[in-house]
Amino acid sequence: MKREKKQEIERLVREGKWLKVTGSRRNVMQTDYYPIIADLLAREEVQALGNFRHHIMTTRFQHCLNVSYYNYRLCRLLRLDAVSAARAGLLHDLYHYDTACYSHSAPAIRHSHYHPMVALEAAEQLGEMNERERDMIENHMWPVTRPLPRYAESYVITVVDKYCAVIEFVLPQPARLRRWVGQKVRRFRQH
Ligand SMILES: [Fe+2]
Ligand SMILES: [Fe+2]
Repeated sequence: MKREKKQEIERLVREGKWLKVTGSRRNVMQTDYYPIIADLLAREEVQALGNFRHHIMTTRFQHCLNVSYYNYRLCRLLRLDAVSAARAGLLHDLYHYDTACYSHSAPAIRHSHYHPMVALEAAEQLGEMNERERDMIENHMWPVTRPLPRYAESYVITVVDKYCAVIEFVLPQPARLRRWVGQKVRRFRQH
C-alpha cells in the first residue's frame, strides 16, 4: 500500500472513522458486519480492552475485533449463525487484567482455563446472550480446555482465535525488521 494511503487510513482510524482488522485493508464500518456489533463496540467494557497488550504485538481490543470479524466471515461462508459468531467473537476475551500478572501469581487454575469463565461472566453483564454465544466464549480455548463445544460455531471460533493469534504476531514482523535495519544503518552512518 502506498505510504500516503496508509497514513490516511491511520488518521481515519485515530478519528474513529475507519475500523480496521489485522490482515485486511477494508473499513469494516462500511460492511454488513458492523451493525451487528456496533452496540457492543460502544460499550466502555469493550473499549477498555484497548488498554491491554495481547499476543505480544497487539491489543486485546484489536484481537477481539479480529476474531469477531473473521469468525463472522467464516461462519457466514459455512452458512452457520454468523450473527452470534460476530458477537461472541468480540466478547470471547473480555477480561481486564494483564495476563502476565495472572500467571505470575502462581494460581491453581491455568489462565487458558480461567479467562473464558471470566469473559463469559463479564459478557453476561452486557446483555442477553444465546446458548451458542455462551458456548463459543466458554469453549474458545478447546482443545486446551476439556469439555467438547456443543455447536459448530464454537469449533469455528477455536480455529479463528488461533489463526488471529498467528497473523497478529507474524504480519507486523516485516515492518519491525525494516525499523531495526533502519536504526542499524543510521547508527552505522553516524560513526
Ligand atoms: Fe482467549
Ligand atoms: Fe482470543
